[in-house]
Amino acid sequence: MKNQEEKEIEIIEDELKIYKVGDEILRIETEPVKDINGELVDFIKKMFYTMYQNRGIGLAATQVGSTKRFFIADLKLNEEPSKKLVLINPVITESEGSELGEEGCLSVPGITESVKRKYKVLLKAMDINGKEIEIEAEGLLARVFQHELDHLHGKLFIDYLSPIKKKLVLNRLKKQRKEEGW
Ligand code: NI
Repeated sequence: MKNQEEKEIEIIEDELKIYKVGDEILRIETEPVKDINGELVDFIKKMFYTMYQNRGIGLAATQVGSTKRFFIADLKLNEEPSKKLVLINPVITESEGSELGEEGCLSVPGITESVKRKYKVLLKAMDINGKEIEIEAEGLLARVFQHELDHLHGKLFIDYLSPIKKKLVLNRLKKQRKEEGW
């Protein structure tokens, strides 16, 4: 039997609204995806466009207003060839080591903070074709996986900061939100 050729995921040039700290949707527990239908695929294509436009390397469904459990990633930003990852109903089944690293988030504008993450993870998910996949990731990709997976369970990277630091960051964001009107 021949392997089915993987089709490159096209993008749809329609920028989705990015929800930011203070928006309720960022704190919900997502629902598993049951059906990868055309509507979902189109939404994902718009998500890639939105992520590239905003120079992100990962984007979770809740950040763009979906309550479903999936995220996308592409560490190569706008370089060619791109490596578009779509992870549906993802779970981390194994992990090891730990590493501190700087993180930011399109939903937490202007803030970067150091966060401790597992250095290596094994992530199981479905791809855009509904195929079960397993990805062993380390370093930056492992960090992106953990950060995006957190989003799908209502968690943001600033939740890892000390209570005092988190309060300072939230106050700064609140002020920023007021000034910039988002
Ligand atoms: Ni994020």
